[in-house]
Amino acid sequence: MEVILVENYSELSERAARIIEEQIYKSDRSILGLATGSTPLGLYEKLIEGYKRRGVSYKHIHSINLDEYLGLDKNHPGSFHTFMYENLFKDIDIPMEHIQIPDSLPSSVKEECKRYDQVIDSLGPIDLQILGIGSNGHIGFNEPGSDPNSTTHVVELAQSTRKDNAHFFGSLEEVPTHAVTMGIQSILKSRRILVLASGKRKAESVQRLLSENISENFPASHLWTHDDVTLIVDQDAYKLVSQKGSEEVAR
Ligand code: F6R
Repeated sequence: MEVILVENYSELSERAARIIEEQIYKSDRSILGLATGSTPLGLYEKLIEGYKRRGVSYKHIHSINLDEYLGLDKNHPGSFHTFMYENLFKDIDIPMEHIQIPDSLPSSVKEECKRYDQVIDSLGPIDLQILGIGSNGHIGFNEPGSDPNSTTHVVELAQSTRKDNAHFFGSLEEVPTHAVTMGIQSILKSRRILVLASGKRKAESVQRLLSENISENFPASHLWTHDDVTLIVDQDAYKLVSQKGSEEVAR
């Protein structure tokens, strides 16, 4: 795992955007794996800037999102469909038919998971997968205890995850209890993975991730089994790792 330590969130977003744009320059037909949440918001702003000011085009790019809540209309303000449209897709030139996000109201959840795996297999492998990391170590919505061999499946969200995401909704009660997510194995099939971690809230997750201890209780640790992962982390999120480093130096 390559670790890029940056000063702050703005630098993190800039570095991540450069990596995505380099991927697009390498192949303008790249398949991008995208995430929602607070962390990639700055990155998406930089990508929009790159499109508007430097003409970085998404005309031939395909995107595959990690996950979606179940039981919300896709136009609900809290859905990941809305999130992606509002924060990225409406401001770049990606064709709407190139966008893949799990259906939030499928008639059969089982069939939807099967369909999404087929989408990943037929379009993929994903060239570059963007990941945030949950405060409990989840990637996508693969919560602690998830099977490392999992493909797309339904999950019951951990209470901590619902609390973390309540700010996107009016209250905790409004956060859906279930979601469809790409599995750990589906994520690990990507050619390259870019993990972003910013802020003190992520310091413990980053410390656990960098301990290299692979465990089902900490889903992000499975990233150690992949040979092309880059973690971009800012000083706040790296705090516990650097403290430990300085304690070791002092000893
Ligand atoms: C989002 C996703 C989640 C988030 C994670 C971190 O599609 O799958 O794993 O990346 O919950 O969320 P933020 O960035 O809001 O801290």
